[in-house]
Amino acid sequence: MLVIVKENYGEVSKEAAAEIASLVREKPDCVLGFATGGTPLGAYKELIRLHREEGLDFSKVTTFNLDEYVGLPPSHPKSYHYYMLENLFNHINVDPRNMFIPMGMAENVHGFCAWYEEKIEKVGGIDLQILGIGANGHIAFNEPGSSLGSRTRIKTLSEKTIRDNRRFFTKEEEVPRYAITMGVGTIMEARQLLLVASGATKADAIRATVEGPITAWYPATIVQMHRFATIVIDKDAASGLRGSYAGF
Ligand code: GLP
Repeated sequence: MLVIVKENYGEVSKEAAAEIASLVREKPDCVLGFATGGTPLGAYKELIRLHREEGLDFSKVTTFNLDEYVGLPPSHPKSYHYYMLENLFNHINVDPRNMFIPMGMAENVHGFCAWYEEKIEKVGGIDLQILGIGANGHIAFNEPGSSLGSRTRIKTLSEKTIRDNRRFFTKEEEVPRYAITMGVGTIMEARQLLLVASGATKADAIRATVEGPITAWYPATIVQMHRFATIVIDKDAASGLRGSYAGF
């Protein structure tokens, strides 16, 4: 696991975008796994800039998103589908036929989850999966207690996540209670992982992820077992670490 500590959020975003861009240049038909949340936004802005100003070409790229709220249609402004269009896909040239985001309105959720897993396999697996991290150590919506071998499925959100996501909705009752999420096992099969985190609220989760024992109670800790995982964090998110890590 490579831990890169940057001065601030802006540098974390640039570094993450540079990693993604370098793969897209090297392998134009690569498969990218995208994440939502506030943290990757800076990296997505930078990818848009690289597309507009440097011609970074996504036309042959296939994308899979980690998760989606159950019950929110793609048109809902708080759905992850909407987030991806607004913050990235509408501004770059990914072919909509090659964009895959879990369907929050799927009638047969279990059937959909099995199909999503198959689809990932059919395209040859994910080359690079971008990850954020929840303050409770979740990755995607794999909440504390998630099996470390889990696959795409429906998960109940933890009270902590519901509270953390409260800010995006007008009323408490609007915050979804369930999500469809890639499993920890699904994520671990990506050939490369890129986890980004910023700010002191993530310091405990980062300390557990980088230095703690591997436990389902902090699903992100399994990243320690991945052969090609890079963690890009700012100084605040790194503030709980005991080891020494590179700034480059
Ligand atoms: C949500 C998403 C995660 C994301 C997390 C942290 O729960 N499902 O994929 O990593 O939020 O979000 P933020 O980056 O806003 O702290």
